[in-house]
Amino acid sequence: MWEARPPTYEDHMQKPLIIANWKCNPSTREQAEHLFGTIKRETKNINGVKIVICPPFVWLPSLNGLSLGAQDCFWEKDGAYTGEVSPKMLKDLGCDYVILGHSERRKYLKETDEMINKKIKTALKSDLTPILCIENISQLKKGTKDLLRKEQKKLIIAYEPVFAIGTGKPCTPEKAKEMKTAIKKIINKDISIIYGGSVNSQNAADYIKMAGFQGLLVGGASLNPAEFIKVVKNVARACPVVELRSLRDCAPKLF
Ligand code: 13P
Repeated sequence: MWEARPPTYEDHMQKPLIIANWKCNPSTREQAEHLFGTIKRETKNINGVKIVICPPFVWLPSLNGLSLGAQDCFWEKDGAYTGEVSPKMLKDLGCDYVILGHSERRKYLKETDEMINKKIKTALKSDLTPILCIENISQLKKGTKDLLRKEQKKLIIAYEPVFAIGTGKPCTPEKAKEMKTAIKKIINKDISIIYGGSVNSQNAADYIKMAGFQGLLVGGASLNPAEFIKVVKNVARACPVVELRSLRDCAPKLF
């Protein structure tokens, strides 16, 4: 499902983003289609939340009807780079988003801030919205090096503290909010910042309502359709877009 234009901060203020990072799951196309189909069916009447699914590259062509993102891309648009996938290819498959700089890629694939910075620039040229994952301000500064303010505005920053990823030990909304405030001091104020790390249906809404994040990056819980649908419903219920119109109204003290 292609978007007519890249999303803006204002869009995310109206509708929190819930981004599913499936990581290296599931193992078969049938399972991927089933998971995607269940989420699509069970969330079709929920308007107050924007859902983006980021499956492994290989399942992208089989999925449609919800916004799609990839989990990585290369920094060149084509050429002799065995095994790589370019932003242009992802755009052609219907992706609008790409996760870049995830801590698992930094750890296991030895991705550096310089590589991530190059990937962001190429992704922006292909009209993909980069979701830059960081756990500290140094990664933010190096990842966004040389970007113009108007380019910064097109990014989504995902604060993902490593201690919270896949551990069942989330960062508290209070602590996460401190990091959100620190990020805003460094980068364009009108940038969407989301939280990731052990998000589940119990804590999801707190990051939006109490800490003022524009959305969530959900790992493990996005592979369990019942739990992921609860995450979506709880966030939608906490910030009812129709009645309140925007997160500004929902939690005015945060802005
Ligand atoms: P968990 O939600 O499994 O902690 O993973 C978070 C994550 O890495 C999302 O990108």
